[in-house]
Amino acid sequence: MKWKKQLLSLKAYQPGRTINEVKKQYGLEEIVKLASNENPFGCSPKAAEVIRNFSNSYALYPDGYAAELREALSVSLQVRQEQLIFGDGSDELIQIISRALLHPGNNTVMATGTFSQYKHNAIIEGSEIREVPLIDGAHDLNSMLDAIDDNTVIVWLCSPNNPTGVYINNQAITDFLSKVPKDVLVVLDEAYKEYVHAEDYYDALALVKEHKNLIVLRTFSKIYGLASLRVGYGIADETIVKVLDPARPPFNVNALGQAAAIAAVHDQEFVKHCREANINGLQQFYRFCEEQNLSYFPSQGNFILIDFNCDGNEVFQFLMEKGYIVRSGVPLGFPTYIRVTVGSKEQNAGVISKMEEFLAAKAALS
Ligand SMILES: Cc1ncc(COP(=O)(O)O)c(C=O)c1O
Repeated sequence: MKWKKQLLSLKAYQPGRTINEVKKQYGLEEIVKLASNENPFGCSPKAAEVIRNFSNSYALYPDGYAAELREALSVSLQVRQEQLIFGDGSDELIQIISRALLHPGNNTVMATGTFSQYKHNAIIEGSEIREVPLIDGAHDLNSMLDAIDDNTVIVWLCSPNNPTGVYINNQAITDFLSKVPKDVLVVLDEAYKEYVHAEDYYDALALVKEHKNLIVLRTFSKIYGLASLRVGYGIADETIVKVLDPARPPFNVNALGQAAAIAAVHDQEFVKHCREANINGLQQFYRFCEEQNLSYFPSQGNFILIDFNCDGNEVFQFLMEKGYIVRSGVPLGFPTYIRVTVGSKEQNAGVISKMEEFLAAKAALS
């Protein structure tokens, strides 16, 4: 068959291990999954109620325009309805954007040490990938600007960045956007935006008003706790949405996801509660790292990347055997680190005590 040859060397996305797999393999009763930056508190009770009572016919297609969700978000974000595009998770929006713009002969600029799907999709589309290493976990925006040339079509920014948790501040992004050529699309992935507590964080919606080459991606998978229902959205000038929308599959966001997301938008108290719990959770990890002299990136997300100064796979394996699934830094480009999702207070204390055991066992051997 005449496949795109780049597909033949690609691996499918490697998700974290599932709870059932790990239970079975290690004979464990309780597993805590802190690997995929999901919300340890689940979703809003209001969204949960909508899901419990959902009674639409499963034989009918969902609303392909997501009209009610569109309206709810346009009110809460104060943007025009035509400025919104919906995806089967923000993953699908990354795919749609890539499909719309990337092809052999052009190029796309991104950080290395960032969310894997920008590169993955660019490989499939056959575009040249220009990767710019992070500096101290942060996007090196000046070098990213230098990497742009006449053939550049997309620049990907992730803020807070997965896996480092480091954000781009208002001054830095404002300068950057003023220098990017107007015919280059800037994708600003804000999957973790609702967790941010830094005071000099920018207002992405104000930036969208000002820059007609910017699209902001957000998701219901993280703080809204609806990852399994797969709802993501993009916010941009309507000229961008108009071109992208035909590249979107017709019924891409399922009906249950749309209904739950509407209820979730209306429960900002839940979002606030999760943000505050996450800030406290981060402090638990910071204390641990400082006591143990481990370096880490201060995070604005719901995860933390910690340097154990040894093979990240070894730490991952040790913790998994004790019932905690985290993410090894090895496939993320940080081979001596692990990335841990911030859980509930108890879950954090639990994984921290196992990390202490790991360090003690390591010290005893040396
Ligand atoms: C930075 C970033 N962007 C996008 C996604 C995809 O999220 P979803 O497709 O669930 O909306 C993730 C998921 O982990 C992420 O970390």
